[in-house]
Parts: sequence; structure tokens; C-alpha cells
Amino acid sequence: MHPADFYTGIVPEIYNVLRGTHFDVERYRAFIEEHGTPALELGCGDSGPFYRLAALGLDLEGVDSSEDMVRRGRERLAADGLDTPIHHQRMEDLALGRTFPSVYLAGPTFNLLPDDATALAALRAIARHLSPDGAALVPLWVPGPTPAEQIGVPREARAGDSDARYTVTGEDYDPDNRTRTTTVRYELVTGAQSVVDDRDWIIHWFTPEVFRGLAEQAGLEAELTDVEENETEAILRPRSAPTSANAGR
Ligand SMILES: C[S@@+](CC[C@H](N)C(=O)[O-])C[C@H]1O[C@@H](n2cnc3c(N)ncnc32)[C@H](O)[C@@H]1O
Repeated sequence: MHPADFYTGIVPEIYNVLRGTHFDVERYRAFIEEHGTPALELGCGDSGPFYRLAALGLDLEGVDSSEDMVRRGRERLAADGLDTPIHHQRMEDLALGRTFPSVYLAGPTFNLLPDDATALAALRAIARHLSPDGAALVPLWVPGPTPAEQIGVPREARAGDSDARYTVTGEDYDPDNRTRTTTVRYELVTGAQSVVDDRDWIIHWFTPEVFRGLAEQAGLEAELTDVEENETEAILRPRSAPTSANAGR
């Protein structure tokens, strides 16, 4: 299965009930207010900041590579009486034919791109979709290995009439290639019926130097700020645009 199709089938249902509702919508709202609308969220899924911000009336568009996430997201918006568009595309192939003053990812979705070549393609796509004075917000994460005591231990939750279960079954942690491949089992049990899906969850991370280098190749300037241990926020701007460092000179 292609990594961009990870969140399909029973996965969106189980992801939603197990993820909880903790996310910092204010960070994304402040970013959009600073840089302007319309804003574009890459990897908007079917829950999270995109839907909160749409409900607040912000002028937004979303993109997601999973046809199930796109369908569920569109249904959710329609049920709320909103006509916010969601495009079914991969961010690395993005072709919307227009630019945005604000482009953002909510959480470290950029780390789902499985290698540097795909990340570079996505950065080039971001550059093509940014207004000349626009900015992109890309949260980044450096994962550790999954603790050994969590492997094989299911996490469970109720999903409607079903029991949802998520179990890490194994992991390849490869610091040389900055890639963690976790084998995960998703299970949805409804009465006597059980659906099981085994997936490879790939997280690919970057050193600051590698990320800056990829951004530069894509024609972007990257400003990196550490927000928590192993979590960084990148602000990207077109390389010809004035930055806070050289504005006014
Ligand atoms: C971890 S979920 C986060 C969804 C949402 N932003 C939220 O905060 O709940 C990541 C989303 O990114 C999407 N995604 C993964 N790879 C993608 C890609 N290459 N291009 C576009 N979307 C992608 C997935 O389908 C999924 O919906």
C-alpha cells in the first residue's frame, strides 16, 4: 500500500476514536490571521483544526490523499452546512492552479512522507502554491523508537456499535535513513464480525540541516523553531520574499 493511502478503510474510524481531541487550534488560527486567507491545509483528514477553523468561518481549503478521509470530511462539512472545499490530491503532486497566502499542516503530517525525495516534491508543491508574500507552517517531529513494553499491547476504544483496537506488532527503527517503520494492526469488531487490517506506519524525519537544504532546493527559506523536545515548527517563505531577518534593509 502506498504511504499516502494509509488512512483508508477502517483506519480513519479507529484513528478518530483513539486520537483524542487534544490539538492546538489557536496556533493555526494565529498563523492564518498573521498571513491571510484563503488558507490551505495539507492532510486535513476528517477531524481536527480544519473543521474547527471552517466552523469559525475562516476562508479555507483542504487537501487529503485518502479518498475515505475526503469523503468523510466532505460529509461532515455538508452536515454542518459548510461548503469549504476539500481536494483529493497528494501534497507532493499538488496542482490546484492557484496560490494561497497561508499554507499549513496541522500536526506532523509532513513526517508521513516516506523519504527525502517525496518531501522535496511536497516542498516544491508548497512553493508553487504560496503567494509571493505568503508563508507555510510545517510542524516536524523526530520520533523515538516505540517503547518495547507497548509492543503487542492493544489500545481499545468504542467506535459507535463496534470495538476498535490498535496494536503495534513490530518496528524497524532506522536512524541512518531517519525512518521508523511500525507494523500496526487495526481491528474493528462489530458483534460476531471482525475486520482486521495490518499496515506499515512510516515516519520519516529530518535534521535541521537536511530540512533547510530541501527547502532551499524547492526555492523556500526555512525558519526552524523548537517547540518541545523532538518537535520543531518550520516557517517557509519564498526565497525572494523579505524575511524578518532582512526586512527593512
Ligand atoms: C494524522 S492525520 C491528521 C489529519 C488532520 N490534520 C487532523 O489534525 O486530524 C494525517 C492526514 O494526512 C493525510 N495524508 C497522508 N499523506 C498525505 C499526502 N502525501 N498528501 C496529502 N495528505 C496526506 C492522511 O490521509 C490523513 O488524513
